[in-house]
Amino acid sequence: MNIKYKNNKKKITPDQLKGFFVGWAKHPNSETHLKILKNSFAVWLAFDGSRCVGFINAISDGIFYSYIPLLEVLPDYKGQGIGTELVKRMLKTLKNMYAIDIVCDESIAAFYKAIEFKSCVGMVKRNYDKQNGTGKL
Ligand SMILES: CC(C)(COP(=O)(O)OP(=O)(O)OC[C@H]1O[C@@H](n2cnc3c(N)ncnc32)[C@H](O)[C@@H]1OP(=O)(O)O)[C@@H](O)C(=O)NCCC(=O)NCCS
Repeated sequence: MNIKYKNNKKKITPDQLKGFFVGWAKHPNSETHLKILKNSFAVWLAFDGSRCVGFINAISDGIFYSYIPLLEVLPDYKGQGIGTELVKRMLKTLKNMYAIDIVCDESIAAFYKAIEFKSCVGMVKRNYDKQNGTGKL
């Protein structure tokens, strides 16, 4: 499979972002997904032709600290190294930052441990009624 990786978010359309947030009870629609990507500090996207089949984003103060809120590869494309490639490319983009943090389920920890991350204790607050990303500030 010829997967191409891009970090330019300017020319993406909502139509290219169908099928993500698998298993989420409520989730951002494609338009909101695009806004999330556009508002992010950095993104990497994996394309099969014009279809986006994987993405990762980072939010940041631009100097010191960055956080990776989302990483996903579409089900049909899992297990081909796309997720690892997206994380590696993002780590390269963020290589001058002190902190690059991710919160994940225990079941995914092995994936991140294999690519330079280590475990720590974290505390999180989640407003599940805002899980579709339409909450106004
Ligand atoms: C996690 C995810 C991004 C991995 O993407 P992927 O393209 O399938 O991963 P890769 O093909 O690069 O896998 C690399 C290695 O990690 C392993 N791996 C993949 N998913 C894993 C998981 N969920 N848990 C543990 N190990 C995993 C693979 O078996 C592979 O191991 P190998 O090199 O020994 O064969 C993908 O499964 C996904 O989108 N999951 C749903 C969303 C999610 O959980 N995102 C993370 C949020 S924190």
